[in-house]
Amino acid sequence: MNFNDIKLKEDAYQVATYVKMPIAVESGSGAWVWTSDGERYLDLYGGHAVCATGHSHPRVVVAIKEQAEKLLFYSNLVYSEIRGRTAEKLVAVAPGELIQAFFCNSGTEANENAMRMARMATGRNKIVSFTGGFHGRTADSISATFLGKYRKLGEPNVPHHVEAPFGDLESAERLIDRETAGVIIEPIQSMAGVNEATPEYFSGLRHICDRNGAMLIFDEVQTGVGRTGNWFFAGSKLAAGAFPDVVTLAKSLGSGIPVGACLVNERVASSIALNDLGTTFGGGMIAMAAVLATLEAIEDEDMITNARLVEERLRDSLGGVPGVVRLRGKGCLLGIEFDSPCKPKYDALLESGVITGTSSNPNVLRLLPPLCVDADVAADAIADVLRKPFSVAT
Ligand SMILES: Cc1ncc(COP(=O)(O)O)c(C=O)c1O
Repeated sequence: MNFNDIKLKEDAYQVATYVKMPIAVESGSGAWVWTSDGERYLDLYGGHAVCATGHSHPRVVVAIKEQAEKLLFYSNLVYSEIRGRTAEKLVAVAPGELIQAFFCNSGTEANENAMRMARMATGRNKIVSFTGGFHGRTADSISATFLGKYRKLGEPNVPHHVEAPFGDLESAERLIDRETAGVIIEPIQSMAGVNEATPEYFSGLRHICDRNGAMLIFDEVQTGVGRTGNWFFAGSKLAAGAFPDVVTLAKSLGSGIPVGACLVNERVASSIALNDLGTTFGGGMIAMAAVLATLEAIEDEDMITNARLVEERLRDSLGGVPGVVRLRGKGCLLGIEFDSPCKPKYDALLESGVITGTSSNPNVLRLLPPLCVDADVAADAIADVLRKPFSVAT
């Protein structure tokens, strides 16, 4: 089917709530996708920060196929070898303090459960979250999302949510108290325009939470699973070694198969009783096979080191490019900040066969490429287009 026919059909039968690129993607391999019209694009948006291992990574595809032939699904009412092996592997690559996993289906569901865990562990209700963080679109998660119009879209909001400025420890001191159940933070605020805080900010938050008996939750839906050049933001140098009580994951975790997870420490794990949490599809066999293969592919192919190289090469190649103010972010979670709106650059890149993303900050263009992208290819593709005179003029 050609693009126009595909577009007509989708527009006719799918609710019109997504702003779409004018392409229909049909197949993919590594960091490349091919459209219905046979054109090739370099995907520096990684299928929306999802395809960490690249599109249709052969190891993930084989794992899904083999599992599908054995058993598509059974819930957590039965034991399953693949679920046990996947949970073991996920805990093995996580920071040492995080000892168990709870599987669900998406980022927002992981965050809902994380906030519920914080309330269970403390017997309190108040949740503190930060200006600019995005946590999802279900009731509790959207109530914790103090970014643009999102929270308003979730009205009536869940009570007991409090907004704190991002990166400001003094206000965190004031707002986190002995009524606080949990503090949820997106460690690098991706959608807001790749906003970062200092490592000391995270260790400071840890101390404030400890002093008040509040649970610290890192929403690593974007930063997790290797994207920042570390398996997790939690416990890394980026967080000055600070460990949260809960880490939430989704996006990259299953290479495109919907899956989310909460990783918890001993204190949180021991406060959860039988039947306190649950979801039908969480921990299903296809998702587990995809997660295990994803983690193994990232590890065996050293994609985390590559993610660091991508950042390094981008920093080099953007030096002296007119209009570029700076490169924000870490690894394969990057934002190019311009001195003017980035939309013309986004359009020019797409026109040249390079998929990138915008953000809530009109001047910041986001790059969320697969962790396996060739660093030189990515850096050259961006710099070549941005150095063209018409980009400078816009
Ligand atoms: C940091 C963060 N948290 C949570 C979510 C929600 O994840 P999902 O769309 O899988 O519900 C997103 C989605 O973009 C996100 O970027």
